[in-house]
Amino acid sequence: MQTILMVVLAACSGGEAPPPPAPEPAPAPAPPAEPKYVQMFGALPAVAPPADEAAKSKISLGQALYYDGRLSKNQDISCNSCHQLDHFGVDGQPTSPGHKGQRGGRNSPTTLNASLHIAQFWDGRAPDVEAQAKGPVTNPIEMAMKDDAAVDAMLRSIPGYEPMFQAAFPGDAKAVSFANAALAIGAFERTLVTPGPFDAYMAGDVSALTEAQQKGLDTFVASGCSTCHTGPTVGGTMYQKLGLVVPYETADEGRMAVTKNEADKGFFKVPSLRNVAKTGPYFHDGSVPTLGEAITKMGKHQLGKDLTPEEVASISTFLEALTGEVPATAAKPELPPSGPKTPKPDPS
Ligand code: HEC
Ligand code: HEC
Repeated sequence: MQTILMVVLAACSGGEAPPPPAPEPAPAPAPPAEPKYVQMFGALPAVAPPADEAAKSKISLGQALYYDGRLSKNQDISCNSCHQLDHFGVDGQPTSPGHKGQRGGRNSPTTLNASLHIAQFWDGRAPDVEAQAKGPVTNPIEMAMKDDAAVDAMLRSIPGYEPMFQAAFPGDAKAVSFANAALAIGAFERTLVTPGPFDAYMAGDVSALTEAQQKGLDTFVASGCSTCHTGPTVGGTMYQKLGLVVPYETADEGRMAVTKNEADKGFFKVPSLRNVAKTGPYFHDGSVPTLGEAITKMGKHQLGKDLTPEEVASISTFLEALTGEVPATAAKPELPPSGPKTPKPDPS
């Protein structure tokens, strides 16, 4: 008995020399760093340079028209009033003042990257940016022009627009028209694509996102946000019910007003999250003031999840990587001066 114990003690007390330390294992070669979720999102498409002189002219004409307040009854409201291109395409207000300060019930979404969405407006009622562009000009609470003919007349009264429309629509006998103006504005909007760090990451430069942003991207995907906010614009690809899991109070029927289908009640276009850190307030009615609150509400109403403050902060950190560069060429150009026949502003 005694002997056995001695043996055990000897073994424990390190009577034998300890084995030499194992040599440091050579560090395994780091796996090549690769971006994640490339199939799910992908980089924004590059904007193709204008194919010819007419295409180039169309874009610069659309740019002028986008900023031209003379397309409104009181000549004080342009597209840029509500979609300010030096403020990421929004005006920062829940709803926007139009003619005589009137406001509609919906928040002004950004025009940046909008051409890439499946359709335009919160309810998708216009198929593309060209079709969308005529709407606000004759909308009585937005730019409030009397009718299409009044817009035609306004455009024709500005002498400098004549050569610009001719260059943009060569061979068109009635080049100066509201219809062509909408096509030009659409062509300009198609240039408003804003690549940022996320695109560099998607293209293979993993270091373009900080570690915190990459972690936030994981949280975004793991939480289920990407089931709806997907594709290069991280949204803009489908309609979904607001309040899919936990009902959401809103008087807005959303897509049902377009399709007349009861099943579409409360459905909205899933908004793109490009530049979302800069485009508050949020939701179709602009009722959500901060990004953190928008993320928390999404977790609850769309996914039935109570996201922790840490998860919300992490997702928010990722969403900041979606802030991109507004093309410098989109700035306000010099507008052609009014002519003797140009109508005067009408505040009525
Ligand atoms: C008085 C403010 C106001 C003016 C002026 C205005 N808009 Fe808007 N715009 C809005 C609002 C509000 C919406 C959303 C309406 C809805 O979804 O029903 C919108 C939606 C859009 C959209 C859809 C974007 C998306 O993500 O679906 C585009 C594109 C757009 N406007 C471009 C223009 C252009 C071009 C002009 C000038 C011809 C213009 N807007 C003038 C307020 C305005
Ligand atoms: C089931 C589809 C769905 C899921 C899942 C979803 N969203 Fe949304 N998201 C929407 C819809 C629809 C809207 C538009 C809400 C409205 O019109 O008021 C929206 C709006 C938003 C907005 C406001 C954008 C703006 O410009 O107003 C943010 C931010 C947002 N979602 C982030 C998230 C995050 C983060 C998650 C995950 C926690 C998430 N969403 C999950 C469908 C979804």
